[in-house]
Amino acid sequence: MKKAEVDKIINSYGADRSQVIAIMNEVQDEERYLPEETLKHIAQRLKLPLAQLYSISTFYRVFSLVPKGKHQCTVCMGTACHVRGAERVLSELERVLKVKAGETTKDKQFSLDTVNCVGACALGPIVIMDGEYHGQVTAAKARNVLKKPEAK
Ligand code: FES
Repeated sequence: MKKAEVDKIINSYGADRSQVIAIMNEVQDEERYLPEETLKHIAQRLKLPLAQLYSISTFYRVFSLVPKGKHQCTVCMGTACHVRGAERVLSELERVLKVKAGETTKDKQFSLDTVNCVGACALGPIVIMDGEYHGQVTAAKARNVLKKPEAK
């Protein structure tokens, strides 16, 4: 992402340092992660310590410091989903995608992550594919969740 594009986002928030999370979020939406150079630029523009931006990046799970896949697959591992078989669903997705949770496929198509409860416990196990919730996912059906999105 070019500095001019990052500047455009920063300027849209009036270069207000209290909006740093919103700015980082918007940059990540474009880039799918927060490159070091971009974080340095944001820190410089907002006159914030770089360490603070790294601290935010690691505290909020939504942020990533490594490149993410085109499609985001997240498996809920909260208690309700866990007792309904989320572990088996995750294992199957790891097997199909050939990655472990927290990793991105070599072709950069899919990132697989876990989360602890997304508030839809009654429908568990829950898998969220590019923001779309899939309920009562079984290990046998897990693969179908990945087929859903077409290239964006
Ligand atoms: S435990 Fe999965 S939605 Fe609550």
